[in-house]
Amino acid sequence: MTPLLSSDEIQSAVRRLAAELSEAYGDGVLLVAVLKGSIPFLADLIRAMSVQAEVDFLALSAFGDTGRVRIIKDLDIDIHGRDVVVVEDIIDTGLTLTYLLNELRGRGPRSLEVCALFDKEVRRIVPTPVRYRGFTIGDSFVVGYGLDLDGFFRNLDSLFVVDPDAVRQDPAAHVELVYGG
Ligand code: IMP
Repeated sequence: MTPLLSSDEIQSAVRRLAAELSEAYGDGVLLVAVLKGSIPFLADLIRAMSVQAEVDFLALSAFGDTGRVRIIKDLDIDIHGRDVVVVEDIIDTGLTLTYLLNELRGRGPRSLEVCALFDKEVRRIVPTPVRYRGFTIGDSFVVGYGLDLDGFFRNLDSLFVVDPDAVRQDPAAHVELVYGG
């Protein structure tokens, strides 16, 4: 199965973003990653950066399609007065990020920006400020490089488009398709 974005394409975008962040934050930066999908991105991003990058994590849970979100694992670090960049795997409607940015802004960071690897811009419901962006992609469901469907496919190093209904009907066939090369 041909990926939408190959591992090489993803890695070169990650290096570009790491260079942009290193250029912008010469005095270091605190990267806040949203669990779990951002883990591969964060891991590659920090290793490609040439400035001090501290990391912290939070986890969110969404209430169905209501756009309401709550924090189920909060940050350990106090972000007051810090330069913070939220590291996101993918932005879809923008509802999750809007909630998160409002929450973090209330904690008084010195600056707050967003670095997102994949952006489904056409799906946006709420305008979302994305300062650092890897790729703009279309309106398809994608898996791999941290992104999952029902917990699966996160460990692929490329990005694949899948039809969630078709995968749920025949998971084994799709595992064979995407992992089989
Ligand atoms: P938003 O609140 O609609 O922007 O949704 C963002 C979250 O939805 C992401 O952090 C992902 O967890 C999930 N998501 C959105 N689109 C996809 C996709 O194509 N594949 C996997 N997860 C997705």
